Amino acid sequence: MSQDKFKNKTAIYPGSFDPITNGHVDIIKRGIRIFDEIVVLVAYNPQKSSLFTMEERCELIREIFADTKGVRVDAHAGLLVDYLKKNDINVMLRGMRAVSDFEYEFQMALMNRRQARDIETVFLMSGFRWFYTSSNLIKEVARFGGTVRGLVPENVYTRLMEKFGNLNDKTG
Ligand code: PNS
Repeated sequence: MSQDKFKNKTAIYPGSFDPITNGHVDIIKRGIRIFDEIVVLVAYNPQKSSLFTMEERCELIREIFADTKGVRVDAHAGLLVDYLKKNDINVMLRGMRAVSDFEYEFQMALMNRRQARDIETVFLMSGFRWFYTSSNLIKEVARFGGTVRGLVPENVYTRLMEKFGNLNDKTG
């Protein structure tokens, strides 16, 4: 059995983050207790169309973690494994919500591992309060004027309301 340790305790936390939600924030805050550094990587998901540009998403995340030591934000439009190899990082952090996430996450973890054998994906269970939330669902509710305050950080809430031009969130 290989006794090799990871070279450093940096992990990337990749995702679309369109936009970042409180569920993501929870994973990052818990992740930073395990790893020395977390690179929140705004990555391109070819299967999704986006509301926020990559730059906007990075900017929102940077604002949220401006005072948090050990959290860095970056963007990448290619394969995740290429980013990891280029930056000499071996660990990918992902959050897992309900069982419905499992198949997709399992496929991605195995495909990434097939591309680069020394890369491991580490999962944290989503916080109980965020089990039912997703960026897609939050965007849909916000688009039609539903209540999303408390599900996303305040800066994201403001930008969502601006995007949809409907400051009619019932709690807003
Ligand atoms: O937040 P999401 O949309 O669930 O994140 C999915 C993401 C961005 C991690 C995934 O689409 C991805 O890895 N994109 C980068 C391209 C890539 O490496 N694809 C192969 C995945 S096995």
